[in-house]
Amino acid sequence: MLVISRSPEQTRDLGERLGRVLGKGSVVALVGELGSGKTVLAQGLARGLDVGPDEYVSSPSFALVNEYRGRVPVFHVDTYRLYGVSEMVALGYEDLLEPEGVTIIEWADKVRELLPERHLLVELSIVDSKTRRITISLVGPWETELRARIGELVNQETA
Ligand SMILES: Nc1ncnc2c1ncn2[C@@H]1O[C@H](COP(=O)(O)OP(=O)(O)OP(=O)(O)O)[C@@H](O)[C@H]1O
Ligand SMILES: [Mg+2]
Repeated sequence: MLVISRSPEQTRDLGERLGRVLGKGSVVALVGELGSGKTVLAQGLARGLDVGPDEYVSSPSFALVNEYRGRVPVFHVDTYRLYGVSEMVALGYEDLLEPEGVTIIEWADKVRELLPERHLLVELSIVDSKTRRITISLVGPWETELRARIGELVNQETA
């Protein structure tokens, strides 16, 4: 599924719609170059997961992981500063894939082997200063109904 976003607000809004339909145990893998909008999308996801506006969602570059209180706990991971998979494992990555929470991972391609079989893959690329190409894939066994809902909300976004 492809969305062309023409502003940060549009990307945030797409994240919010996706966040509204995600539930416990969902993992969102964000892949894309510097400044492509991974954190902006994560802000929208957090909003859709009912994280309060008082909880500031930014790149967790120092903490590696930020946790927010939403409808379910939301873990926001940024692997940018990591050397790779071994460091991620050493940091207790397994615990982040909380079955009771939603995990959002920036630079997920760096830890691709660690991603669960079922995840939402969002790939972002820069077209020009305001335009982003966003590809959404449902990887692994997603229920038919959820697939349909996500397909629908992505279509609305494109319209
Ligand atoms: N359509 C758009 N969607 C998202 N961001 C956009 C868009 N147009 C412009 N921008 C700008 O691009 C930047 C995206 O920044 P963001 O921090 O989300 O990127 P990132 O992928 O998380 O980068 P990093 O790899 O440094 O963490 C913001 O400054 C935002 O305002
Ligand atoms: Mg970021």
